[in-house]
Amino acid sequence: MGEAKKLFIKTYGCQMNVYDSERMAEALGETHVATDRAEDADLILLNTCHIREKAAEKVYSELGRMKPLKDARPGVKIGVTGCVAQAEGAEIMRRAPVVDLVVGPQSYHRLPAMEQAVARGERALDTEFPEEDKFAHLKARPKAARAPSAFLTVQEGCDKFCAFCVVPYTRGAEVSRGAEKVIAEARGLVERGVREITLLGQNVNAYHGHAGGLAGLIHGLADIDGLARIRYTTSHPNDMDDALIAAHGTCDKLMPYLHLPVQSGSDRVLKAMNRKHTAEQYLAVIERIRAVRPDILISGDFIVGFPGETDADFAATMALVEAVNYGQCYSFKYSTRPGTPAAERPQVDDALASERLQTLQALLTRQQSAIQNAMVGREVRVLFEKPGRLPGQMGGKSEYLHAVHVHAPHIAVGTVARVRIVESVRNSLGGVLV
Ligand code: 5AD
Ligand code: SF4
Repeated sequence: MGEAKKLFIKTYGCQMNVYDSERMAEALGETHVATDRAEDADLILLNTCHIREKAAEKVYSELGRMKPLKDARPGVKIGVTGCVAQAEGAEIMRRAPVVDLVVGPQSYHRLPAMEQAVARGERALDTEFPEEDKFAHLKARPKAARAPSAFLTVQEGCDKFCAFCVVPYTRGAEVSRGAEKVIAEARGLVERGVREITLLGQNVNAYHGHAGGLAGLIHGLADIDGLARIRYTTSHPNDMDDALIAAHGTCDKLMPYLHLPVQSGSDRVLKAMNRKHTAEQYLAVIERIRAVRPDILISGDFIVGFPGETDADFAATMALVEAVNYGQCYSFKYSTRPGTPAAERPQVDDALASERLQTLQALLTRQQSAIQNAMVGREVRVLFEKPGRLPGQMGGKSEYLHAVHVHAPHIAVGTVARVRIVESVRNSLGGVLV
């Protein structure tokens, strides 16, 4: 083999794309080394997200910015991966001659062969949902040391068909990876220094690769010595089964943080969204989780301006937020996704939706800050991940996923240590070792 080629991947969207980008870099690891400068790369991959509006336009404008790199060095190859590739692969090939390669999320194991075809001067497109399991065909993960916190995808796709969402179309039907394979991958990560694993899936708590569901997998992972922390995201309220709720009370390694999107607090809107639960049912789930783990930090997602949303519906959302008290939240203005049921419905006035978004975000920010500020004086356990900005400072995350910085010149990355929180600044907490 000659000198390794250089690979640059730009990742958009969710944590599942972050995980996929790592796996793609590993899949190409025999021929390519990673670079964080697009200008140096022989192969540039844009790992795209399709969840909200203007996704495709963003990809085309990024491709426009990449074109001069290719003009300057004609050997450079450009690929589009991820959900926009899945949804609009053929169109991208047609519209953007600068693109050499398009591959959807279910076919990443085919990337090395596609890269070879591209190196021979061909253009390659693969947006199938192949029969074979891509994870089984992706190479074993290499042995290089790892940062203490890692993502691990255990489930992909979604069968829920919320009326606003493209995921069931771009990522396909729900599939789970077998628990044995997941546990083996987790062991490999821990051998390389990982202390915390976040299990990923578009609908992670629908996981059925273990007879005991996601809870069964979590208990299995908790038996791995050296693995200190387990998290999972993203969950659907209807899949919070008894065993998973109970695990929050019994499994010490399962962190007290739960991302549980509800999208709206209005039953009328929830029905129109095809969420298949009411606001009350959602609140009941939260109450059950808090009963077994009172300190759990709840995070959520909201959409405002969903077609048909009235002032009363929005008021119901505000009331639900008041009732839950979120420690972290993501909120979005509804954006039309072609091909989804809600796209055909009469839209809410854009200015009104923007106003609602501002009102909601003000409340969510207030709750989030209050919960963060209330950590001052408390003792938490911090997983240290990297040196902080100041000399001697180390940064990490608490159980509740708050960023914490501490003056601790002698503490090693990957250590979990007790910290007393002494200050709350804008986006992080300051503490001292106990
Ligand atoms: N418009 C706005 N937000 C959306 N989301 C998903 N689809 C849309 C859409 N069409 C949000 C939901 C989901 C999060 C990942 O993105 O809140 O939970
Ligand atoms: Fe989309 Fe999540 Fe609804 Fe599935 S459950 S359709 S991924 S919002």
